[in-house]
Amino acid sequence: MNLAVIGCGYVGLVTGACLAEAGHDVICTDVDTERIARLQSGIVPIYELHLDKILESARKSGKISYTANAGDAIRASDAIFICVGTPPKENGDADLSAIDHVARQIALEARSSKLVIEKSTVPARTGLELRHALSAYSRNSGLTFRVVSNPEFLREGTAVEDFFHPDRIVVGVEDESSADQMREIYRPILERNFRRPVHQDTCPVTSKALLLVTTINSAELIKHASNSFLALKISYANVIADLCEKIGADVEEVTHAMGLDPRIGGQFLRAGLGFGGFCFPKDLQAFVHLAGTVGVDFDILKAAERVNKQRIDHFLAKVHQALWVVKGKRVAILGLAFKASTDDVRFSPALEVARRMLAEGADVHATDPEAIARAKAIMPEVTYHHDPYQAVRDAEAVLICTEWEEFRQLDWERVGQLMARRLVIDGRNLCSPALMRELDFEYFSFGREAVRGGRVGVGVGQ
Ligand SMILES: NC(=O)c1ccc[n+]([C@@H]2O[C@H](COP(=O)([O-])OP(=O)(O)OC[C@H]3O[C@@H](n4cnc5c(N)ncnc54)[C@H](O)[C@@H]3O)[C@@H](O)[C@H]2O)c1
Repeated sequence: MNLAVIGCGYVGLVTGACLAEAGHDVICTDVDTERIARLQSGIVPIYELHLDKILESARKSGKISYTANAGDAIRASDAIFICVGTPPKENGDADLSAIDHVARQIALEARSSKLVIEKSTVPARTGLELRHALSAYSRNSGLTFRVVSNPEFLREGTAVEDFFHPDRIVVGVEDESSADQMREIYRPILERNFRRPVHQDTCPVTSKALLLVTTINSAELIKHASNSFLALKISYANVIADLCEKIGADVEEVTHAMGLDPRIGGQFLRAGLGFGGFCFPKDLQAFVHLAGTVGVDFDILKAAERVNKQRIDHFLAKVHQALWVVKGKRVAILGLAFKASTDDVRFSPALEVARRMLAEGADVHATDPEAIARAKAIMPEVTYHHDPYQAVRDAEAVLICTEWEEFRQLDWERVGQLMARRLVIDGRNLCSPALMRELDFEYFSFGREAVRGGRVGVGVGQ
């Protein structure tokens, strides 16, 4: 099938690349003409595991192409995936201006009927507004625009794997023929009948994906309800961590045992600096806002958001208690991305920590395996190092802000030798307190024993 993808960010590029590898002809477009030019010359503008490989494979097979002319992409396709950003407004609501802009373009540029697939995360009822907008903007009454909500559940860092091996594919439709067309688009994924340069031999053994057909409103709600629930789980684990610190229990022991119960599950029960990124914070806010507009008070989510905001304060309280005066001290921040395996720094707790350290007059040095360029564009005042050992040199404290495996694997004895003082404040519970004690670090994390000068202490923040 001929598909268009509008918006070549994380979701758009993964969608385009994977559907091209699934055998469709995909044409991608974006308002960012520089991004399109880079993609045309084979440069992948974001870091996402395997994405470069499958984009290259799709380019070689002629299955994917890029154009800065949205009209060309719209006219060349039967179905159009809208993958533009939906950032938060001041009041928490989602800013849907890019969706509206795309709707106008589709309505004006189309010369034949289209299936318009909303993949961007949007509040419930957006699909119905989109359908209305498409017919209102159209100058040709002979064309029909059928709208589908197809929320995306991929996770940055494992986005390609997630797209090829989804737990479920949700399609919210208004008629059976839209559902059939979506089934056709996803058939290679549902049947695992795609070329897979990602895996050496065969795909990993996981259960096959389900395609769930729902109403448009339900599909939109499923996405917000899922992300908000995961955010809630993270905040829950964080409150448990605070409780563990107060009463002397170990949050890892508690959440591990909780997670073994299949009704709970172990994922997203990690205590730490809390959630960031382009999805959870804004989706939570948009869901609370949506509920408010229809008179439903989503107090439980407001609490999750409040807990999350307090994580940075809790972390900085630990830093203050350990370092005493921050002004003029050299601190090393390990991690800038909002989570490991991505270069995405949008709403990253690590950047908020860096910003607050700079505001207090610290000499901030930072490192990240992938996110330095993006962080530097936002925060040039920080001194960046590609080599983590250079970042920690002469530091009076190391602050771990992103859970990159590379940081866990550091030669921590060498880190200690390079630092001015052996002090680590771990915002991701990445290191083992036992190892830190053995290496004579002062070590503080969330909801676990504090290590002071190689001895078990009472814990910072208690
Ligand atoms: N990033 C994720 O992990 C993820 C996961 C699931 C869903 N989502 C949702 O998918 C959507 C896109 O997220 P993203 O992370 O890919 O964002 P992104 O910012 O990386 O990409 C959005 C792209 O859309 C382009 N764009 C904006 N307005 C446009 C327009 N009018 N016409 C053409 N292109 C336009 C931008 O230039 C940008 O390249 C959001 O609604 C997000 O909530 C994101």
